[in-house]
Amino acid sequence: MLFIGLDIGTSATKCLLMDAEGRVLKVTSRSQRTAYPEPGWSEQDPAMWWESVRSGVRELLEGVDAGEVCAIGACGQMHGLVVLDEKDEVIRPAILWNDSRTRYQVSYLEREVGEAFISEQTGNRPYTGFTAPKLLWMREEEPVNFARIRKVMLPKDYVNFRLTGVHSTDYSDASGTLLLDVEHKCWSKPMLSICGLREAYMPQLFESWETIGEILPEVASELGLPPTVKVCAGAGDNASAAVGTGTVGPGRCNIVLGTAGTMLVTTDGYFTDRRNALHSFCSADGGFNLMGCILTAAGCNSWWMDDILGATDYEAEQARVQGGHLGHNDVYFLPYLMGERTPHNDPRARAAFLGMRIDTSRADMTQAVLEGVAYALNDCLNVVRSEEIQVLETSICGGGANSPLWRAIMADVLGIPLQVPTTEQSPALGAAILASVTSGLFPDVASAADALVRMEDDLVMPNRQIITLYQGRYNVWHSLYPAIKDFYQQIL
Ligand code: XUL
Repeated sequence: MLFIGLDIGTSATKCLLMDAEGRVLKVTSRSQRTAYPEPGWSEQDPAMWWESVRSGVRELLEGVDAGEVCAIGACGQMHGLVVLDEKDEVIRPAILWNDSRTRYQVSYLEREVGEAFISEQTGNRPYTGFTAPKLLWMREEEPVNFARIRKVMLPKDYVNFRLTGVHSTDYSDASGTLLLDVEHKCWSKPMLSICGLREAYMPQLFESWETIGEILPEVASELGLPPTVKVCAGAGDNASAAVGTGTVGPGRCNIVLGTAGTMLVTTDGYFTDRRNALHSFCSADGGFNLMGCILTAAGCNSWWMDDILGATDYEAEQARVQGGHLGHNDVYFLPYLMGERTPHNDPRARAAFLGMRIDTSRADMTQAVLEGVAYALNDCLNVVRSEEIQVLETSICGGGANSPLWRAIMADVLGIPLQVPTTEQSPALGAAILASVTSGLFPDVASAADALVRMEDDLVMPNRQIITLYQGRYNVWHSLYPAIKDFYQQIL
């Protein structure tokens, strides 16, 4: 038995082939462009995702007995607005999770509708990247396009639609629309009406592992797959990464160092923190989680390496940072290149280096970038800790987790051991695991993850002395955003 996991990411779409023992047999990747038509805007054409999946799956199946493939699961970038008309044609390019054009709509929701009311309805505060403010933007700025909407979807749902012809979504991804009543797992009627939508325009809700349908016969023959292949509803990329790292059942934590950075803690039932500073989402195993998100994590590192230093060899560049310098860096970096999501919710925030001296080196600044991301994720973890939820250990995945230096910094800043999965493709692996449940190989996500997820034997242990040094540095770093936030109002 074989299973395919798809990850419709921002910079690339990954396709992964997994066997019934959880072995990752092959991964293919297709790079993707993002258009930035105006400052703060970020768009992709859904046709590009489908093209990435078509060619990625065909390459994945080269030399493989495709008759063995039983099921496909997809996960993807969350919050992206995909709108279809009555002929199921895409109306306009998708507006992505890191697009901040909706500042006006978010303040309308906060002030006119009321933040408390929205939190009560959805479990979440309005954020520029979430889907509902994008619909309000479309209604105001593109009324003709808005009037054509017959289906609202998220990125991986569009791929599932092309695979099966079914309009579906799952609870984990729907949680990030601000249209779902997360606690009761149904569309929020008041939020749909605020956005001028009928419930019929929303896709059908499924649990992540549930089957939405079988692959369409013409798609099966095009991809070289049997027409019996089942497709499950899949999940948002972070919920899927949680499955792919075994972050299943309450009381566990996973961190993703991808383009964005997330910290997801599974909770014992539906839970919102006192300030609703973190996202309160459904998980892909039927449970719930609290999630913090910083909009640029590995995105800060690639900006620093590619655009600023022009360095192609990240490893060589990071080798300039001396291990003994951890906890001693006087340079601080605020990683807000695309604004700040949690816990401050400030789309106007921008990145900053502070504390450079005449003797500051390139290595100090490289280190500051990695530390700044770690501090920002610690900000999110501290909200969880302030709710008396203990986090004693976390798994870590995503491209950034390949760097031993960054892993060491993360362990020392967070002050907890890190578990590293054997594959960096945890979101796609999670999607393949969901597919294995839909195929009937496992009765539920927990037993599938238990049998299929593999971790490196050694934990990344924090160093006690460095933890203390970093606590002091984190306190300094934490005081910087409040000190300069008024400045952000003046620059845009
Ligand atoms: C989560 C978020 C990002 C995207 C990126 O809320 O916005 O992690 O899902 O893929």
